[in-house]
Amino acid sequence: MNILLIGSGGREHAIAWKLAQNESIQTIFCAPGNGGTKHEIKCKNTEIKPDDFDALIKFAKENNIYMTVVGPEDPLALGIVDRFENEGLKIFGPRKDAAKIEASKAFCKEIMVAAGIPTAFYSEFTDFEEAKKYVLEKGAPIVVKADGLAAGKGVTVASTIDESIKALEEIFIDKVFGDAGNRVVIEEFLKGEEASFLAFTDGKTVIPMVSSQDHKPVFDDDKGPNTGGMGAYSPAPIMTEKLYNFALNKIAYPLVKELKKRNITYKGIIYAGLMIDGDNVKVLEFNCRFGDPETQPILMRLESDLLEIFDACINQTLDKVNIKWYNEPTVCVVIASGGYPKSYKKGYEITGITEAEKLGNVKVFHAGTKFEGDKLVTNGGRVLAVTARGEELKSTIKLAYSSVEKIYFKDMHFRKDIAQKALRRL
Ligand code: AMP
Ligand code: GLY
Repeated sequence: MNILLIGSGGREHAIAWKLAQNESIQTIFCAPGNGGTKHEIKCKNTEIKPDDFDALIKFAKENNIYMTVVGPEDPLALGIVDRFENEGLKIFGPRKDAAKIEASKAFCKEIMVAAGIPTAFYSEFTDFEEAKKYVLEKGAPIVVKADGLAAGKGVTVASTIDESIKALEEIFIDKVFGDAGNRVVIEEFLKGEEASFLAFTDGKTVIPMVSSQDHKPVFDDDKGPNTGGMGAYSPAPIMTEKLYNFALNKIAYPLVKELKKRNITYKGIIYAGLMIDGDNVKVLEFNCRFGDPETQPILMRLESDLLEIFDACINQTLDKVNIKWYNEPTVCVVIASGGYPKSYKKGYEITGITEAEKLGNVKVFHAGTKFEGDKLVTNGGRVLAVTARGEELKSTIKLAYSSVEKIYFKDMHFRKDIAQKALRRL
């Protein structure tokens, strides 16, 4: 059978790589994919854009696609699942009404409050002057969030009042996020350490994945501006068994039940971004898809078949599935283009991937890469996600970084402290 996988990042390369292990799958068509999926086992890239639903539906019908899998949030928020289902096509991911947990921060907050899910105190605004009055009243630090999807750039953690007002001006007056900034959520600043809690759900049963932790700031020691994620690892020792059970029973299940009350059946991935301060856990955000780069270290620990899990989510038979994981830890180091997350150049030749993958249980997932003829070149901010699985954390970190050292492209940069927080905790 054939699969259609939508997206072009490291997350999608990891999903494709994992799905390819299913013996019944013949071809995984990646729309549009990247330099990594172009030569991945069983994979073929196809030049259709993730928002061209008509072309994707036509492709699915013409290529005997058994299931379409959606990687990124934008097509989900635009209702790709509803469109495919209306055509009688099988697709993995939440429908438009359910994807709103990520597509609207105001909706997400409202659901959390109704469901009793712990989250930062907040107010929402559609007017600049009122929002400004509120931040002047509350004081800094304070967090300003554009309501809609803003490619991960819509959140400002303001350490001063001036910074928060500047963020409000950009959103309301300069309209830098367009309609995504018609509404703003302003919330209390939370301190603590972040972790990602991801789970599969069929709208009735929730099965958590192994824990993970992302590294959002661009430089070591969490310095510099936020990125999509500069590295991740699994498991995250900060997620103790107690916190893990809390996240399942007091966060994920209440979310699914609250949505159900509103006639919204959530099928797909639930991603909760958590802020942990001792025993105190609060949800920063929900995403309606796999995390990037968390997916790379998480799927490298997945022993079970991924297609079977996706099928069970769609068929609402997740209660019959037993998901198995490898105990060994995984560490993923993202190599980025010079300048990222600000402006950067593309088109630099990449070398050393084959050598990197020879060092052990290492997989170099591609994000922003493409082929120019036979030459692999950079094609994005986050370029590669070098992911290693080892016996214990310390040697796995070493394996990941030894592999990174084999890789070269001009102006590349990466964080040198991925998973150090876990090491300190152990
Ligand atoms: P979000 O997209 O809502 O997860 O926000 C992006 C990032 O901003 C998070 O990963 C946190 O690092 C930071 N952040 C968001 N909300 C808060 C908050 N209330 N307090 C502190 N940091 C926050
Ligand atoms: N790694 C953060 C995200 O996927 O949203």
